[in-house]
Amino acid sequence: MSAIIRLEQLSKSFDSLDVLRGISLDFESKEITSIIGQSGTGKSVLFKCMIGIMAPDEGRVFYKGKDLVEMSEEEKELVQRNFGYAFQDAALFDSMSVAENIAFPLREVLGIRNRREIRQRVREMLEWIELPDIGDKNPSELSGGMRKRVGVARALAIKPEILLFDEPTSGLDPVLGQTINDLVVRVNRELELTCILITHDIPAAFRISDKVAFLHQGEVIAQGPPREVIRSEHDMVRQFVENSFSSQEV
Ligand SMILES: Nc1ncnc2c1ncn2[C@@H]1O[C@H](COP(=O)(O)OP(=O)(O)OP(=O)(O)O)[C@@H](O)[C@H]1O
Ligand SMILES: [Mg+2]
Repeated sequence: MSAIIRLEQLSKSFDSLDVLRGISLDFESKEITSIIGQSGTGKSVLFKCMIGIMAPDEGRVFYKGKDLVEMSEEEKELVQRNFGYAFQDAALFDSMSVAENIAFPLREVLGIRNRREIRQRVREMLEWIELPDIGDKNPSELSGGMRKRVGVARALAIKPEILLFDEPTSGLDPVLGQTINDLVVRVNRELELTCILITHDIPAAFRISDKVAFLHQGEVIAQGPPREVIRSEHDMVRQFVENSFSSQEV
């Protein structure tokens, strides 16, 4: 197997705060990889570096062997066509309807102009997130969970090679969270997409992922298949895993 994305010694600081401290991590093609770890440990910063919208201070982000950090903006935009991503806060455009939000990357990234094709794709995406009737609504009329799912639909719309989600299930009730996790598994299997998730849903991460990486204070302290990471001797990982699974049983 060869890594579709490879991070090498990524570092990022904000003033005196060292957020990423030499992250090296491989993401295999067509696999689901989840990144877990405490709040404030640098997961979203890592996410932004991976998709090329934040420059690391040091290190490299390889996409199929090509370094994003070194690329011109034009080259990077071409590479980014292969990425479908949804931010932690969904980041929808409130001046547009839900349908227009989902259509946006179809027009802007893929350059599709055919209105029927766009309408069709938007409808298909709304069905994937099980909200078929909200196309005409404005994002401000939606609940937080619905916005989140529209963010997921927008990321999926371009049928990217890699899906990257920053906490797609946080703020959702368990049933909806499960729907999104199922969706990830479905697109991974049916569309053979590489999926990279940042998630606080530890049981789901262990259940659906081929690989889990545990971030702590800007470093990867455990990584590998779930069955290996779950047996990690590292105190922080053990605490995290034990708490997540025991809270689920209550
Ligand atoms: N643009 C920025 N400028 C300054 N500091 C930042 C910036 N972005 C993130 N940080 C800081 O970097 C640290 C890591 O933030 P990050 O958002 O990556 O955490 P996280 O692991 O995603 O947390 P959570 O699980 O709560 O989403 C935090 O201390 C945050 O305040
Ligand atoms: Mg975050």
